[in-house]
Amino acid sequence: MNKKAKQIISLMAVFGCVAIASTSCGKKDPNSPGVEFMPDMYRSPSLETNMAYVTIENGKQTGDTLQANRLPVNGTIPRGFMPYPYANDTSGYANAGRYLRRPVDIIRNAENLAEGEELYGKFCTHCHGTNGEADGLVAAKLSGAPPSYKGPVVMALPEGKMFHSIYYGKGIMGAHSSQVSKAEIWKIILHIQKLQYPNGVEVAAAPVADSAATGAAKVPANK
Ligand code: HEC
Repeated sequence: MNKKAKQIISLMAVFGCVAIASTSCGKKDPNSPGVEFMPDMYRSPSLETNMAYVTIENGKQTGDTLQANRLPVNGTIPRGFMPYPYANDTSGYANAGRYLRRPVDIIRNAENLAEGEELYGKFCTHCHGTNGEADGLVAAKLSGAPPSYKGPVVMALPEGKMFHSIYYGKGIMGAHSSQVSKAEIWKIILHIQKLQYPNGVEVAAAPVADSAATGAAKVPANK
């Protein structure tokens, strides 16, 4: 390699160093990522699902609204989800009492009773008390105490109304539909009925008229 070539190479090296120094260290902002080569690769124009996009020019929308994902048809429900058909009002409460029954696949067996007891301990005991006698620690602080499960009101309450009140809440009792699933509410009800009838379960029959409870139907303990 002759002298001239050596000079050119060392000159290029000096320029290279200056160029690197000025791009990497010359910025004022220490958090700056520096010069972006092909920024499209870092910032892809990906669309968020379920978002609608519009182009605004001079304060006005130009062109169509672009829906990234098609919205489901009205009335669509997720797979496996069953809507609760009774409204959160007095007629919904009355109708739940008349027509709503525990689903046949939630059997009164040891497993479901144990799960109901555990859920009851987590979500209800502090107000309703371990034995359902409205003597939970929180109940003592409430302005209106909960009813005892063994008192005349809840003893005559059809299971559909129980479900309705637990699902939507009643009075100062909050709704529990976001904390426990429908199946779990039924298991809790199994436990409440066990507290009410320790010697075998009797379930209050659905009232014929809205107001009147018409006695109790005997149900064998394994049904
Ligand atoms: C913050 C305290 C509180 C908690 C927690 C609570 N309840 Fe209640 N519950 C009440 C009160 C107060 C009432 C009386 C509501 C009324 O009639 O105004 C009540 C009423 C009831 C009734 C009677 C409903 C009716 O239609 O008359 C049932 C059944 C019941 N609760 C079950 C439960 C179950 C099961 C849980 C747990 C998942 C629970 N509660 C959690 C305070 C509570």
